[in-house]
Amino acid sequence: MIRKLAVLSGICLAALVSGCKPSLAPSKPLSQLSPQEHSGYLVYQQDCSGCHYANQTGDLHGPSLFAMYRKKYLPSGAPANDERVSATILNGHGIMPGYANLIDQQQLHDLLAYLHTL
Ligand code: HEC
Repeated sequence: MIRKLAVLSGICLAALVSGCKPSLAPSKPLSQLSPQEHSGYLVYQQDCSGCHYANQTGDLHGPSLFAMYRKKYLPSGAPANDERVSATILNGHGIMPGYANLIDQQQLHDLLAYLHTL
């Protein structure tokens, strides 16, 4: 019993030291992406990676896209769903440019599929 308690308090202490942040599981590995998700990854690389991380937390020029759909809300507080994310991509947001004239429907769908793997 005492041993169990000691182990438990050890775990709690470790959690406290590490800031008590539950760490999110990593994104789906690149090698396991479907063809559509991989096309979306290429769109991300070309159009978004200059300003957004995909596989780590923290801001680049904009907020990280890591685990975006695994949270309830986007950084702005809008719900994290395809409708809002599509609107952000097409119309832009704050200093983020809009992509309505730069990517077609197919690329948008591929990109959303990729973002869902993060
Ligand atoms: C020039 C830099 C830049 C590029 C390129 C860019 N973004 Fe952004 N993005 C930003 C900034 C800055 C914000 C935060 C805007 C704000 O808070 O007003 C943002 C916000 C976002 C958000 C969060 C919106 C919200 O409601 O919180 C999403 C999702 C997003 N970007 C996705 C993308 C995707 C996908 C691409 C590629 C098609 C992309 N961004 C390209 C700079 C960029």
